[in-house]
Amino acid sequence: MSTSVGVIFGGRSVEHEVSIITARQLMENIDKNKYKVVPIYISKQGDWYTGWELLRAETYRNLAKLPPYLTKVCLIPYPAKDNLIGVERGGLFKKSWNEHLDLVIPAVHGSHGEDGTLQGLLELADVPYVGSGVLGSALGMDKISMKAVLKEAGLPIVDYLWFTRSQWETEPETVMTSIESRLGYPVFVKPSDLGSSIGVKKVARRDDLAFALDVAGTYTRRLLVEKAVEDCIEINCSLLGDESDCQPSVCEQPITWQEFLTYEDKYLRGGSKQGMAGTKRQIPAPISEALTKQIQQMAVSAFKTLACRGVARVDFLVPTKTGRPFINEINTIPGSFSFYLWEAQGLKFPQMIDKLIELALKSHQIKQQTTFSMAGNLIQPGFKLGGKG
Ligand SMILES: Nc1ncnc2c1ncn2[C@@H]1O[C@H](COP(=O)(O)OP(=O)(O)O)[C@@H](O)[C@H]1O
Ligand SMILES: [Mg+2]
Repeated sequence: MSTSVGVIFGGRSVEHEVSIITARQLMENIDKNKYKVVPIYISKQGDWYTGWELLRAETYRNLAKLPPYLTKVCLIPYPAKDNLIGVERGGLFKKSWNEHLDLVIPAVHGSHGEDGTLQGLLELADVPYVGSGVLGSALGMDKISMKAVLKEAGLPIVDYLWFTRSQWETEPETVMTSIESRLGYPVFVKPSDLGSSIGVKKVARRDDLAFALDVAGTYTRRLLVEKAVEDCIEINCSLLGDESDCQPSVCEQPITWQEFLTYEDKYLRGGSKQGMAGTKRQIPAPISEALTKQIQQMAVSAFKTLACRGVARVDFLVPTKTGRPFINEINTIPGSFSFYLWEAQGLKFPQMIDKLIELALKSHQIKQQTTFSMAGNLIQPGFKLGGKG
């Protein structure tokens, strides 16, 4: 019997559409002789659906009007044999439809999917899943925490400050003065936990800074402000593996059309809807062998330091003057799973998916070897309620 693989995509995220593209690419390339694909689409409202129509492109032309014959489902948050079950209208569980998922591939970008929340549900359900766990996903999503951990590990990052939205709202003057005195202009203002360049702005004066902080604050309650690296190229490197064995891919140089890599550069310049695979880029990046090696080593260190697994992509900013790379960020569910970087060095997408599944099963096996409960019961006659020791 073939392995039943749930591919979860869409979701309550501003990167919803990009996730549909990533998931469809994966479902087209997964080896159907080995795996039975169960597509699971999460709508923008957060409802879960399955059904073969999810394999067709037409299904996504009008996201407000999904085909009526999709089945509404949910994943049970505890270890269960039939872990994906049909949900009746009105919210009551009806055992009219159920399915056993052997494994899940999260193909969601951004909030409620790439940030550890979905991974938390999968941990509770005890289903093996592809990619980083709760910690790696959460660290990878929140740029402020990511930078703190990378800095602690001695990895080079751009100087930054961060604020809560409420700090910005209550003390705007203090916030702006500290940015100006510590970082100066120009700076990049970013929502800490978003992706696809949404809410990211480069600013060179106080008025624009205030506007950028307002905009970023509409997306998140954690605001990141970074020194802008001027005259730089961007180099990305993908990683495949886990904490014990992690391989770097060839490097790519995405082509920037404007002052920095925007949503449009990333997804709309390829002409067709190819997601991250449609970005204009040079592979391998036209940089020296020494710089390539240095970037690959740093990418592996970042992947391991941030507790990542599966496939990820580490993005670098390299100033042309010094040639000394800064780690800009990690993406724990990179657009198009970065398959184009692995194909460039001979690993075809279907085989790369096999490798991701192998890693997910290995990780699940390691989890099974971990002790989660103690033998016996502390609560016996005579037991007194006390503080937790
Ligand atoms: N400190 C910086 N200096 C120069 N360019 C930057 C800096 N931070 C971001 N950028 C530019 O903005 C783009 C988006 O920022 P990034 O931090 O990668 O956010 P996202 O997670 O949305 O991709 C980068 O690809 C790069 O082009
Ligand atoms: Mg980025």
